[in-house]
Amino acid sequence: MARPIIIAPSILASDFARFGEEVKAIDEAGCDWIHVDVMDGHFVPNITFGPQVVRAIRPYTDKIIDTHLMISPADPYLEDFAQAGADMITVHAEAGPHLDRSLQAIKAMGKKAGVSLNPATHESVIEYVLDRLDMVLLMTVNPGFGGQSLISSVIEKTRRVKKIIGDRDIDIQIDGGVTVETAPKVVEAGANVLVAGSAIFKGESVDDYRREIENLRKAAQKAQ
Ligand code: DX5
Ligand code: ZN
Repeated sequence: MARPIIIAPSILASDFARFGEEVKAIDEAGCDWIHVDVMDGHFVPNITFGPQVVRAIRPYTDKIIDTHLMISPADPYLEDFAQAGADMITVHAEAGPHLDRSLQAIKAMGKKAGVSLNPATHESVIEYVLDRLDMVLLMTVNPGFGGQSLISSVIEKTRRVKKIIGDRDIDIQIDGGVTVETAPKVVEAGANVLVAGSAIFKGESVDDYRREIENLRKAAQKAQ
């Protein structure tokens, strides 16, 4: 049975001067999750925002706030994101030496736990933490910036991760370069959660966002 397609717009591509209104707009436009790309200027060559932005947008949506921590170390900040209202907290396998401990800490706070793999990271890193995971995030670009093209070698990695996961209750999320053209390829390989920034926020109105979200959903569902 295929897992439901989940569309998670990344607010990295939204208007930074209007986070609340933008989150309200994509919520009304029918997104499933809100993807929050946290960057520290150390783990990735860009700085975005911290737990305060999660706290600020929380009142604007009841949907899952899916926080992608492109930071190292991540452990000192997990509690801040959990208390700010994050529902899903994803850490990078490359962000520190104790991935199992980070995932245990997230679960202990009652949150869903994800691990993210950069394009060059081998899928075997998830083998000993499968029982801690709710999601595997496969980066299809090198993290730091939106608007990049999908790295096609990660499509094969998606297939291999799907095989490792088997019928466990674990989502596979794709982040980077997701469009109506690339979405079917990653869904056919086994992904079901699609992060999209530039493909969704290229419009301005709720109707624009609704059209892009639905086009992406339809393209993905056709490939299941
Ligand atoms: C990279 C970011 C991007 C972003 C999606 O660090 O994680 O992947 O969310 O950007 P688009 O959809 O514009 O490629
Ligand atoms: Zn992301």
